[in-house]
Amino acid sequence: MRRKVTIVGSGNVGATVAHRLADRQLADVVLMDILEGIPQGKGLDLLEAGPIEGYDIRITGTNSYADTANSDLVVMTAGFPRKPGMSRDDLLKANFEVVKGAVEQVARYSPECILIVVTNPLDAMAQAAYKVSGFSKNRVMGMAGVLDTARYRTFLAEALNVSVQNVQGFVLGGHGDTMVPVPRYTTVAGIPVTELLPQDQLEAIIRRTANGGAEIVNLLKAGSAYYAPSAAVVEMIDAIFHDRKKILPCSAYLEGEYGIHGLFVGVPVKLGSRGIEQIIEIKLTPEELAALRRSAEAVKELVQVIGV
Ligand code: LAC
Repeated sequence: MRRKVTIVGSGNVGATVAHRLADRQLADVVLMDILEGIPQGKGLDLLEAGPIEGYDIRITGTNSYADTANSDLVVMTAGFPRKPGMSRDDLLKANFEVVKGAVEQVARYSPECILIVVTNPLDAMAQAAYKVSGFSKNRVMGMAGVLDTARYRTFLAEALNVSVQNVQGFVLGGHGDTMVPVPRYTTVAGIPVTELLPQDQLEAIIRRTANGGAEIVNLLKAGSAYYAPSAAVVEMIDAIFHDRKKILPCSAYLEGEYGIHGLFVGVPVKLGSRGIEQIIEIKLTPEELAALRRSAEAVKELVQVIGV
């Protein structure tokens, strides 16, 4: 059976997710946006690439949630990027209004869907989506860990001059300055990375990873990253639709895991057809755990501002 994915927001991240889904023939795609013409135009353009690329999935653009009905999965990318002079709280409140309105419609038209949140500030928006949708916690998740981990792996592979495929690891915590890459669990073809790189070089890579989103924003001047973020979203969708039981770092609702209660924070989870099928609790040193809890505190401050 053909699957249906709705992407809310037809900006660079949304449209590139649609492009990647089409290339991999993972689902029919509905691009939903409040802007008139943009989702329809990008949808039609992608559809017309089908005969050349050899995909026959349906891609449509719309301004009406009715067209998104009965989606199997919804990707939430809608929201404002941070503009000069805007505080974190301003962005938080503005995007909360966008996400709240959109998720109410998503829950109404696709009550059974799995929801992947991409809008920033990521963990707080995932929490907002969870609370507004009323969905079970396995069906709501934030995309950040896969992206942050991809950046981490890229920088490590570059430093070691090895294939990125040899580098395995993950990044814990919120998607922000306080994220927690864990070198102790990072390996290169099975070799602990701590055996291969000196501490100061590892620390520099960890700092660059935490700053990875801002590095791209500073280069682009207008707008933020979308090639790697969209690839990360599609890896999650692929794991879910193929029921791969793949362990990936995602923002998930914690109820006591890692000593964190009632909060979305990035942790390794098992993704399968039911969404988050398991939260993986790994052993952390007191320092690593303290870093994760500090990161959770930063998320908590944000969710308290919007009261979710
Ligand atoms: C990033 C922003 C967009 O990490 O969250 O690229």
